[in-house]
Amino acid sequence: MRNNTIVQLLQGKKLHQDIQISGWVRAYRSNRFIALNDGSTIHNLQCVVDFENTDEKLLKQITTGAAIRIEGTLDESQGQGQSYEVIVKKIEILGSADPEEVKKTILQPKKHSLEKLREQAHLRVRTNTFGAVMRLRSQLSFAVHDYFRKNGYFYVNTPIITGSDAEGAGEMFKVTNFNLKNLPKDDKGIVNYKEDFFGKETNLTVSGQLEAETYAMGLGKVYTFGPTFRAENSNTSRHLAEFWMIEPEVAFCDLDGNMDLAEDFIKYVLQYVVDHCQDDLAFLENRLIQEEKSKPEKDRSPMKLREKIDFVLKNNFKRVSYTEAIDILKSSKPNKKKKFNYTIEEWGADLQSEHERYLVEKHFKCPVILFDYPADIKAFYMRLNDDGKTVRAMDILFPGIGEIVGGSQREERYDVLKSKMEDLQIDQKELSWYLDTRKFGTCVHSGFGLGFERLVLFASGMGNIRDVIPYPRTPQNADF
Ligand code: 4AD
Ligand code: MG
Repeated sequence: MRNNTIVQLLQGKKLHQDIQISGWVRAYRSNRFIALNDGSTIHNLQCVVDFENTDEKLLKQITTGAAIRIEGTLDESQGQGQSYEVIVKKIEILGSADPEEVKKTILQPKKHSLEKLREQAHLRVRTNTFGAVMRLRSQLSFAVHDYFRKNGYFYVNTPIITGSDAEGAGEMFKVTNFNLKNLPKDDKGIVNYKEDFFGKETNLTVSGQLEAETYAMGLGKVYTFGPTFRAENSNTSRHLAEFWMIEPEVAFCDLDGNMDLAEDFIKYVLQYVVDHCQDDLAFLENRLIQEEKSKPEKDRSPMKLREKIDFVLKNNFKRVSYTEAIDILKSSKPNKKKKFNYTIEEWGADLQSEHERYLVEKHFKCPVILFDYPADIKAFYMRLNDDGKTVRAMDILFPGIGEIVGGSQREERYDVLKSKMEDLQIDQKELSWYLDTRKFGTCVHSGFGLGFERLVLFASGMGNIRDVIPYPRTPQNADF
């Protein structure tokens, strides 16, 4: 007989039928009631053991953490708190768990801090919180593909190892198979990369954008969804060194079209999880309410998780130019009272997350799309406006998160792009293939990058990005 899953059984269609189920014991009480979870849902299934007619030795092995298989019949539950239960006929211990050892781990059923769970990241998926977050994450990634497929986009897989720096920010992890203790050097002591695996310097990609652009120039509408890497020393609750990015790129699309796409896309995937993750969202909403109680009143969010999601779904994102945003920030209370860590003095200032969050959470109180940033604080590939000093960039700012999307209309004019690269001393030989797209049938095109973990963070109501990816990579940490 094949295993049933708990999520199926809780629909009740197998009532009074023989069923089989495998899972992990969450708790065993009164020598009679096993709370079993198989990962298919946040809910446990209660399995009722006829302990008087079961071998004592077997009963002793039904301990928290153990993997077991149960055969029995599905019945309506007499007890409170569940509609169905399994009347056990046969139990098999698949993998035992020593209670003394379990006590030292987060499998022990009591409240553990999220920090503690991170230290045992290989076990944390067995907790309610991480089960919920990881099911949500999985559904969200499916929703991403679903959206693009429905809208005529092609999924492209851009390289993870590359010779270029797509963002021009130099925050790259090097890729080499050199023996680092014995590097081949020339007479001047300079490392000879010709002898390295690829015959040149290579790194892990910071973004698939440049390659996605070349594919948009043939397939029209494309997107990437893959891991990206940043060697930035940012130890915050919003930064990872390895994160997943979704990057659509669209030919014949300008910045306005790009904003429309980003807003439509975000709303679609959030609606998808509202429709498909009700139980997990309900659990996460409750988790957040409990967590908020431990915060000082003034730091508590006025909205519950579902309200926050619904708010994004129901409202238009506010579109504001960088210049307007600077005016708002300059005359804001925290700026005047020097409450920001970085005071906004003048036009041209780079916005820090404190400013972004002020705009979203205090001023506009809704998601904001900032556009037309100063050219000097944005990447080389963004299209220069006629004013000669701003570029067609856009960032989407979210409550509680700050920047969730960064994108732009791309500089499609060969001469303008080339001279920009010269100014910024970007290696044109390395990026000749990119410049080529501007020589052969160039066109207006746009795209953006959305940090997948920041999206999961928003949808799950979790507070730290390390808690929405199975194995976070951050400065000084690559465990597991
Ligand atoms: O703004 P970014 O750097 O833009 C790009 O990489 C463009 N090439 C995207 C494009 O136009 N195709 O990064 C895009 C998004 C950010 O808005 C943020 O959500 C996320 O990626 N992100 C990070 N997420 C987690 N940890 C980090 N260290 C991140 N850096 C960026
Ligand atoms: Mg950005």
